[in-house]
Amino acid sequence: MNLELFAPFAVTIASVSNFLDEIDRDKIKEYILNNAEKYSKNYSFGENNISSHLKEDQTLENDGILDNFLEVRNKIQNVLDEYCRKEDEYLQKITNSWFNIQTFGDLTYPHHHPNSSYSGVLYIESNPETQNIHYINPIMTKSRNTISRPCVPGDLIIWPSYLIHYVKPFSEDRRIAISFNTQNV
Ligand SMILES: [Fe+2]
Repeated sequence: MNLELFAPFAVTIASVSNFLDEIDRDKIKEYILNNAEKYSKNYSFGENNISSHLKEDQTLENDGILDNFLEVRNKIQNVLDEYCRKEDEYLQKITNSWFNIQTFGDLTYPHHHPNSSYSGVLYIESNPETQNIHYINPIMTKSRNTISRPCVPGDLIIWPSYLIHYVKPFSEDRRIAISFNTQNV
């Protein structure tokens, strides 16, 4: 038997471990916590969720939380460039970014990110023992329909925005993350 397998439409997810060290994470965490009250809970998935997503003043000209951390945004841009180069994909630029603070009882329902080519998350505070992000296989014929990755502080994960993903309800531990969307340059 001469069985050949092809994977012409593979879905790739990019991840960078230790993308941000503890000093940088603490700096960002301090800023987010100090400014959290300014942000209304207008995009809340849970009892306590505070999110800066879809703030009224957030437009494509104002790309959100990462505006305050240009070095980090540039570092993410470098990863995006490398990801696109390896994927033979159009170059991407970050079009908006927001933070989420989630605690006990919060969850994120399965969703994708419309009007975006790629999406990403950067974990500022999280517990990889109790928190995972789950991705649903868009090719529903396979038996392995979900893959999960632990939410490791400092890690960056980027994926195609059509991928449906979710976070299960939190039993303990706070999670602070920055998320972003991109569009073709
Ligand atoms: Fe998401």
